[in-house]
Amino acid sequence: MGVFASTDDPGSAGHEQVVFCQDRQSGLRAIIGIYSTALGPALGGTRFYPYASEAAALADVLDLSRGMAYKNALAGLDLGGGKAVIWGDPDQLKSESLLRAYGRFVQSLGGRYYTACDVGTFVADMDVIARETRYVTGRSVEHGGAGDSSVLTAWGVFQGMRAAAEHVWGTPSLRGRRVGVAGLGKVGRHLTGHLVDDGAEVVATDVDPRALAWARTNHPGVTLVDDTSALVAADIDVYAPCALGGALNDDTVPALRARVVAGAANNQLAHPGIEKQLADRGVLYAPDYVVNAGGVIQVADEIEGFNFDRAKLRATRIFDTTRQILRLADDEGVPPAVAADRLAERRMAEVGRLRAIHLR
Ligand code: NAI
Repeated sequence: MGVFASTDDPGSAGHEQVVFCQDRQSGLRAIIGIYSTALGPALGGTRFYPYASEAAALADVLDLSRGMAYKNALAGLDLGGGKAVIWGDPDQLKSESLLRAYGRFVQSLGGRYYTACDVGTFVADMDVIARETRYVTGRSVEHGGAGDSSVLTAWGVFQGMRAAAEHVWGTPSLRGRRVGVAGLGKVGRHLTGHLVDDGAEVVATDVDPRALAWARTNHPGVTLVDDTSALVAADIDVYAPCALGGALNDDTVPALRARVVAGAANNQLAHPGIEKQLADRGVLYAPDYVVNAGGVIQVADEIEGFNFDRAKLRATRIFDTTRQILRLADDEGVPPAVAADRLAERRMAEVGRLRAIHLR
C-alpha cells in the first residue's frame, strides 16, 4: 500500500506529514510521522526497532503518531502528535553519526516535530541527538533534561487508578484494596511504592528474577506470584498491567477477577472487541493512554525548562481527566476508551480552531 493510502484513515483527517530520512553512510533509515499539529508542535518518541519490513515500520509510525496526538491532547498539553521510527537493530546500528544524522533531519522540520525516547532509545541518545537539534526532549538531567520519565508515568497511573477506584467504590483511596501489578520494571516499581504508601495490598509478578529480588528487599509485604495468569486469576480488586502491550486479551479477560484495570502498559487492549468483553464482565477499564500520560507530561515540561514540581502538578491532573472520562462514558453509554477519544477530538477541534484567528 502507498503512503497516501496508508494515511487515509476514514475516522480522521489523516496524517499531516510523513517524512522519510536516509543517510547511507551511517545506515540511518527513519520515518517521522506527524499526525496533527492542531494543538502545537507534534511530540512523540523515536522507536529504534528491527522491523520485518518497511511496510511494518511505516504502519507502526502511523499508528503511534496518531496515538500521541490523542494522548497529548488529553494530557492538556499544547502539543500535537507525532512519532518516529528508526528501522534497524539498535544493538548493531546505533552510532554517534547515525543519531546525529537523525538529529539533523529532526532539525530540518523547523520545530514541527519534537522527539524523545521510546523503545530502543534512551536519555543518553537524546543528549547526542540534541547536538544537532533543539527539538528534542527527554535529555539527561546533566543536560537540563527531565531525566527518567517513569517517575511521573507511575504517579499519573496512580492518579488514574484513584479516579477509577472512586468511580467504582465511591472513594479514591486504595487502602485495603488488593492491587495486582504485572511488571516490576521502572514504572511498576514506582507505582508499587505509591500503592504501599496509600495502604494498598500489592500482589505482583515479573519474568525477571532481579525485579522479584527488588520487591523482596524493598517491599517485603508485597505478595509475589508465579506469572501473569496467576496474577489475573488472583483475588485482586485492581489489575495494573505494567509490562507489555496486549495484556487484555481473550485469555486474560475471562479469567480476570479485578473490578478495575489501570496500568502503564501501552496498547493494553489486544483487539477492539476486548472492550466490550470487559464491560460485559463489569470491569472498569481506565484507558491506558490517559493514565500513562505522566511520562510525556514530564518530557514536555522540558521544552519550557524543566521544573519537576510543575510537571508533577500536571501529572496529578490525570485524576481529574480520568474522572471526567469515566463520567462521560456513563452519560453517553459508551466504553471509557471511546469517551476518551471523543474528549481528545473535542479538544483538538475546539482549541485547534483558534489557530484560524489571524495573528501578525
Ligand atoms: P521496563 O522495561 O522498565 O519494565 C517492564 C517490566 O516488565 C520488566 O521488569 C520486565 O521484566 C517485565 N515483564 C516483561 N514481560 C513480562 C511478563 N510477561 N510478565 C511479567 N512481567 C514482564 O518498562 P517501563 O518503563 O517500566 O514501562 C512499562 C510499560 O509502560 C511499557 O509497556 C511501556 O511502554 C509503558 N510506558 C512507559 C512509560 C515510561 O515513562 N517509562 C510511559 C508510558 C508508557
